[in-house]
Amino acid sequence: MKYQSQRVAYWYFLAAMTLFGIQVLGGLLAGWVYVSPNFLAEILPFNVIRMIHTNSLIVWLLLGFFGAAYYLVPEEAEREVFSVKLAYLQLIILLVGTLGAVGSYLVGIHGGREFLEQPLWVKFGILVAAVIFLVNISLTVLAGRKTAITNILLMGLWLLCLLWVFAFINPDNLSLDKMYWWMVVHLWVEATWELVMAAILGYLMLKLTGVDREVVEKWLYVIVATALFSGILGTGHHFYWIGTPGYWQWIGSIFSTFEVIPFFAMMSFAFVMVWKGRKNHPNKAALLWSLGASTVAFFGAGVWGFLHTLHGVNFYTHGTQITAAHGHLAFYGAYVALNLAMFSYAMPVLRERAPYNQVLNMASFWLMTGGMAFMTFVLTFAGTIQTHMQRIVGEYYMVVQDQLGLFYLMRFGAGAAVVLGALLFIYSQFVVRREVVKPGPVAVPGE
Ligand code: HEM
Ligand code: HEM
Ligand SMILES: [Fe+2]
Repeated sequence: MKYQSQRVAYWYFLAAMTLFGIQVLGGLLAGWVYVSPNFLAEILPFNVIRMIHTNSLIVWLLLGFFGAAYYLVPEEAEREVFSVKLAYLQLIILLVGTLGAVGSYLVGIHGGREFLEQPLWVKFGILVAAVIFLVNISLTVLAGRKTAITNILLMGLWLLCLLWVFAFINPDNLSLDKMYWWMVVHLWVEATWELVMAAILGYLMLKLTGVDREVVEKWLYVIVATALFSGILGTGHHFYWIGTPGYWQWIGSIFSTFEVIPFFAMMSFAFVMVWKGRKNHPNKAALLWSLGASTVAFFGAGVWGFLHTLHGVNFYTHGTQITAAHGHLAFYGAYVALNLAMFSYAMPVLRERAPYNQVLNMASFWLMTGGMAFMTFVLTFAGTIQTHMQRIVGEYYMVVQDQLGLFYLMRFGAGAAVVLGALLFIYSQFVVRREVVKPGPVAVPGE
């Protein structure tokens, strides 16, 4: 660790990994309800489990991003974080808000807008934490060296915090309500978070492959430009059926098709950097997660996103298991795996453990990624059948659901593999010992 204040990141990562465990366990529970519908129905209804699953996902990913910023900004800016105290205060506010949200869901209090169900006071807490973060990290960057990585990271984080304001706007008109809602949900994952992803990926590539900074920066500019160009008007792919004018069908279809480009560019970027890089960094696990993240993001967001983004297709697939298949693989590849890449890179440094044994970490990559891939295939098959029977044949929703039991059982199996992988990952970060470096053959003089 070069800068003392980077240590703050450790506590963000720790909190993030705890919530990650809760998130996947919540998913598994929700998956079991699909197999056995009355399971826990009285004490912990499905909608509450689902809220805990999706909200903890978003919160831990954000904690991971904040932690990543506190870790990499000092190195890039070549100075300590402006205020370590503020960074801890921000973390405490976020954790109190999280507990408050979960507590209120458990007693049935929630706002009822998917992903934005938090009670109003929690939303304000998040706003305060976001402001603290922006001030803290911006003052750090402004006082130090400015790099493309920190500029893009900051731009992404500023915009995503600003978009949070739309979470407070909830008009009575249902179409407007949905429009504002998507301005948070879509403009996060398909615009601002992409900038954060590009910046973190750029930092990891710089460290892991030893490629020149100028090369990394050129790629980053292309990724950021294509992400914003496509992602902003791409929001239109959520405006097809919410009561907005018909031209959104064309705007959404055309611009969201371009959204594939930045994800393709990020995947190409990662592989080209590894190919061109001269450095043989010992942290192979972080490299595996980085390459895995950009590849799975391309498939989950790019390929599975394009699958249902044209309005002629979406007319049939809207809100089916196809959507869930895409949502899972896209979130996993782009943001879960990317965060785990950052943890894999930073944790051994923060815990002064390098070089450490990476076998379990890499095994967890294959277990989790294999599980998510299988879950995606299963849900895609289920969604195809659902689309056909419900939207083309015209059977009732529940009649169709009854036919899909086998798929939901398989989804549960895939989910169990993901949970095992996640627990293995957490274990590998905390419990694993240092690698025993075997002494090499000793050169005998004169030989
Ligand atoms: C890191 C891995 C995971 C991520 C990123 C993730 C993400 C998500 C997202 C974004 C949603 C909302 C989907 C939508 O609205 O289309 C969701 C719902 C759900 N997830 Fe996960 N999830 C993960 C792991 C799991 C696991 C391990 C299971 C276990 C089977 C699971 C089961 C579910 C279920 C049952 C729902 C509710 C679907 C519905 O309402 O029909 N998830 N998850
Ligand atoms: C990492 C980036 C992405 C993430 C995390 C993500 C995640 C999600 C999630 C969770 C949903 C379900 C939302 C809901 O209805 O509650 C969704 C819907 C959708 N996504 Fe993405 N997505 C990403 C990128 C993309 C891209 C690049 C495309 C197009 C090429 C796309 C196309 C769509 C479409 C068309 C829907 C609406 C599905 C429906 O009508 O039910 N997504 N996405
Ligand atoms: Fe979208």
